[in-house]
Amino acid sequence: MRIVRIFDTTLRDGEQSPGASMNVDEKVQVARQLARLGVDVIEAGFAISSPGDFAAIQRIGSEIEGPVICSLARAKEADVRRAWEALKEAPKKRIHTFHSTSDIHLKHQFRVSREEALRRSVEMVGLARSLVEDVEFSPMDATRTDLAYLLDVIDAVIEAGASTVNIPDTVGYTTPDEFGGMIRAIKERIGDRAVISVHCHNDLGLAVANSLSAVRNGAGQIECTINGVGERAGNCSLEEVVMALRTRKDFFRADTRINTREIIRSSRLVTKITGIPVQPNKAIVGTNAFAHESGIHQDGLLKEKTTYEIISPESIGLRSAKLVMGKHSGRHAFKTRLEELGYDLAPDEIEKAFERFKRLADQKKDIFDEDIEALVSDEVSKIPEVYCLTGLSAESGMKKEPKATITMKVNGKTVRRTAKGDGPVDATYRAIEALTGTKSNLIKFEVKGITGGTDALGEVFVTLEEDGRTVRGLGADTDIIVASAKAYINALNKLAARRK
Ligand code: KIV
Ligand code: ZN
Repeated sequence: MRIVRIFDTTLRDGEQSPGASMNVDEKVQVARQLARLGVDVIEAGFAISSPGDFAAIQRIGSEIEGPVICSLARAKEADVRRAWEALKEAPKKRIHTFHSTSDIHLKHQFRVSREEALRRSVEMVGLARSLVEDVEFSPMDATRTDLAYLLDVIDAVIEAGASTVNIPDTVGYTTPDEFGGMIRAIKERIGDRAVISVHCHNDLGLAVANSLSAVRNGAGQIECTINGVGERAGNCSLEEVVMALRTRKDFFRADTRINTREIIRSSRLVTKITGIPVQPNKAIVGTNAFAHESGIHQDGLLKEKTTYEIISPESIGLRSAKLVMGKHSGRHAFKTRLEELGYDLAPDEIEKAFERFKRLADQKKDIFDEDIEALVSDEVSKIPEVYCLTGLSAESGMKKEPKATITMKVNGKTVRRTAKGDGPVDATYRAIEALTGTKSNLIKFEVKGITGGTDALGEVFVTLEEDGRTVRGLGADTDIIVASAKAYINALNKLAARRK
């Protein structure tokens, strides 16, 4: 079976989703999970873009074993050298350099001729190749580039040393048949001289279909992100494209090296860290993806699973919600379960999570894996805590004026305040705003129940904006007001980290 490489760009293009920025520790955690998932290449960042990206690439390159670690670089000498600096220690490294090739970009954005764009591309691929063995080149906005010129650029960069040529549909403009034709033309021109990669954006909802069409026509690498996060409408979703290939190997005659049982864990980790929830009906990782509602379907499933199930939940790592722990479970069992779930936490972090687990066990009879994962959100989110919630009591009701009293630590100092509001969440948020002296705009507030039942943990996702910066916060608790306060404070901590 032909193997298609999976190039994950969650940490680079994925991080370009509004509000999705991750700090270095968080990126290392995601990279560790990507390695477990079995991706072939991790694009760990864009080295020259910020010291944070540089540090993340450096750490991922020296700590994460398995995948090739890659840095993005514009076709500029300073970028390529910076990428090399960041990657130096990585045992398997790749420099991914790019230059626009479409007339629209060349004329309006870069104001250079086609010849000049080609010259710069060749020169920078040559420079990258003098530093590392493995060089990838992307002609940006390839799908709106004149095909004859695109083929000339591709020929020239391969000649200069690129071993992968990536064809980006930068603005999500192409369609499956058109893109397939383009990839076929490239394959006919270059044969096996380089791997053809594809990088599709989802502006028309076609990123996965376009990538699959490319595979049918000779592409050997797919660039994608967990949960399809990314610039604007996002990138090709890793879980969808991988499961399409795995499920329809018969049709595509190709597969990947992905350990699909790690998919759900990867999806949840990225949700937790970025604060971007997955829509319930999203293919593969949405909460409804395996929920059969219709009586006819349920009847068929009970008789024979394959009547209505083309993918088994277990194949993506979903266990049927099972009771894993209870009130009497000890520290050791809790730690073992965390390890089985893929969390690699420091002893003090385990201790904090265990205390929360004990409190939860007092409130909630049945504790599921999903609850445990929500409990460790605070540890997974490696944001320095300038603000920390230590107490909350809220009052509300039909004939009561809602109010909330919040106790928090602000830079280690305990403060307390009561505020009134339109409802208990509004009162809570007003009190927190006053205590922290912050002025951000709440753009979005979403609530989701984890597992069923009225005693379920609730997850709250908030999006805040301050001076043009957007961040997302996440909080989980059996008390939805407490979860709301945690999500708000998590987002405020991210803003504080960004300000620094
Ligand atoms: O979408 C795009 O064109 C990119 C390139 C940098 C590969 O992300
Ligand atoms: Zn992109």
